[in-house]
Amino acid sequence: MHLLRSSGALGRCPQCGEWNTLVEETRAPAGRASQGSGGSGAAGGRERDRRARVESVATASTDEAPRIETGIGELDRVLGGGVVSGASVLLGGEPGIGKSTLMLQTAAALASRRVLYVSGEESARQIRLRAERLGATADIDLLCDGDTASITRALDERAPELIVIDSVQSLHSAEAGPYPGTVNQIKYSTYEILDWVRAHDAAVFFVAHVTKEGSIAGPKVIEHMVDSVLYFEHAEEHLRILRASKNRFGSTDEIGLFAMEGQGLREVTDPASVFLVQREGSLPAGVVVAPVYEGSRILLVEIQALTVPAKGGVSRTFSDRIDSRRISRVAAVLEKHVGVSFSDQDIYVNVAGGIRIGEVGVELPLALALYSARTGMSVPTATTVTGEISLAGEIRPVAQLRRRLRAAREMGYERLVGPRRVREGEAPEEGWVRVDSVSDCIKAVFGAGGRG
Ligand code: TYD
Ligand code: MG
Repeated sequence: MHLLRSSGALGRCPQCGEWNTLVEETRAPAGRASQGSGGSGAAGGRERDRRARVESVATASTDEAPRIETGIGELDRVLGGGVVSGASVLLGGEPGIGKSTLMLQTAAALASRRVLYVSGEESARQIRLRAERLGATADIDLLCDGDTASITRALDERAPELIVIDSVQSLHSAEAGPYPGTVNQIKYSTYEILDWVRAHDAAVFFVAHVTKEGSIAGPKVIEHMVDSVLYFEHAEEHLRILRASKNRFGSTDEIGLFAMEGQGLREVTDPASVFLVQREGSLPAGVVVAPVYEGSRILLVEIQALTVPAKGGVSRTFSDRIDSRRISRVAAVLEKHVGVSFSDQDIYVNVAGGIRIGEVGVELPLALALYSARTGMSVPTATTVTGEISLAGEIRPVAQLRRRLRAAREMGYERLVGPRRVREGEAPEEGWVRVDSVSDCIKAVFGAGGRG
């Protein structure tokens, strides 16, 4: 059996503020969900009306749903400017990464609104202690219970504008079979809460644990039910990266950066240099610094490559930071157009600081890192490089060249090697070494010693 706890203080009417004036109404849980006919509660009726309304494409409202800024800038950035009323967000991540911390800080930042924090995992005492540690002991309604009926009752009574469910794995309902934690339980409970949220234009965050092994009843089962899916990832030690893998109300390009510290998560608002490795003297072979364009910001990152003779003669590529197909393609271009062989080599690629890079401008730095690793020649210090590579070995223009140049300069990189052409709309500017091909780039960086 599960030990159920509830806040025990849910008898107050959110409209008039009076205690014990609420009258309990029974709702047929499946009625609203599937038949839409059995619900006798007010919410059920409203929900039916809302769904039944047919309107014309020509006259449908184009007003944007209002957004609630959470007050946590890095979270708002990833969401696309705050959370939309009526929207649902799934926040996934490994246990211990900081999901509950982020949600409690968000709830505290929004405490001037009606916020309900539902925890099926921790006691009120534990949450209070965390809130004290975060300096976030705001007046947040707390319900320590995972039972869906208790939660929907609390929703009806408190009418919150923002709801945090921590976590979906702790949700259960007697309506969805006898065993808590099953896929059915999670789906049913999530649907019940979503139904309420949509009918009341509230917003909800569902926290979900993701384990490396990929638990069966994990967040995957509700990804398609929510509007946005965010994942919290580890970068190096204390750095955390927030990414959207689905976002109905914004892009999935932006990343949010946080540092986990003694008093909770601190936003990293100026991230240009957080992934840079501080080094004295010359660079080791295989290392290249690159300004990459992630979301709307420029980050300087260090690309590291290592090549070793392939065991059994079959070349393989290992990287969980840059797509290995991209690495193989860049290696093939180098082999064909520069004449260094990779086909008998195993290739390892890493990005220092643990950030994944999906941007095309990383291709030329990657080519240089591979070339440097294979030949043992180091890239001169204070040199940085950006560019996309075609299969013919040409360097294509990248977005935001000027901003990359500026960011590199600010970090002390005097020399940027990049594409000759700038993208349309970007005013050309002096100050970078212009190259047309990968072999040009190798000549420009390594001088006469390079084989370009
Ligand atoms: P938590 O938010 O509980 O993670 P999750 O909900 O994703 O499982 O964070 C737990 C970790 O964060 C734990 O190892 C302690 C650490 N932590 C800090 O370093 N500083 C803090 O202020 C807090 C609250 C937690
Ligand atoms: Mg937690």
